[in-house]
Amino acid sequence: MSVESEKDLESLRKIGRIVASTVQEMFRHLRVGMTTHELDQVGAEILARHGANSAPKLCYGFNGSTIISINEEAAHAIPGNRRIHEGDLVNIDVSAELGGYFADTGYTRPVGRAHPITHRLCAASQEALAEALKCVKAGSPISSVEHAIRKVARKRGFSVIENLAGHGVGRHIHEEPNYVPDFGNRKDKRRFKKNCVLTIEPFLSTGPRHAYNTSDGWTLVTPKGNYTAQFEHTIIVTDGDPIILTAA
Ligand code: CO
Ligand code: CO
Repeated sequence: MSVESEKDLESLRKIGRIVASTVQEMFRHLRVGMTTHELDQVGAEILARHGANSAPKLCYGFNGSTIISINEEAAHAIPGNRRIHEGDLVNIDVSAELGGYFADTGYTRPVGRAHPITHRLCAASQEALAEALKCVKAGSPISSVEHAIRKVARKRGFSVIENLAGHGVGRHIHEEPNYVPDFGNRKDKRRFKKNCVLTIEPFLSTGPRHAYNTSDGWTLVTPKGNYTAQFEHTIIVTDGDPIILTAA
């Protein structure tokens, strides 16, 4: 969507703060041995307390309120009986709606004592998001985001999951521009438009460059033994630095 009024801006700020605090509160409640379903219930309660609706549930009939992806799972994992172990790399992605406005955010963190590579991967993914955000400006090429992400991944010795991407958001969870790539295509001539609301969400991995569909129709995975990490913000494009709606 394009932000056209003070009401748009305030409503987006509100849902942005809600999804950001939900992710952080879920991490505070995370305990070794918990199932992803139990952690999702925590997220569901927080969203309900704010009167917000889970976007994947509302828009796609997803069987869960939040998305909790572990280790080799890259994205869209359905909360269930998988238990969270010490050393796991956990991604929590929360998108929700309030009053007809949507925001989307994701954060990744290792649990307890974890392999040093998980910490390095998180730091690199966060750096990729920060560098990508510097490229978002009205009139700049959308493909500059992908260049920034790829540069950080290369410098830090990781790969970019090429088939996952940011997206427009605001009045629906997925809208135009429908593909803000983490990995690009030189022919992409699109440019950022002022007041446009979208997500930037680099997915870095310890090797794989593609995430694959699984039989549940939702979970996207990489081969076992790998790690992926994603960090995501919902932002508004301006003539200067973007407005980050989901800053924790
Ligand atoms: Co998300
Ligand atoms: Co997203």
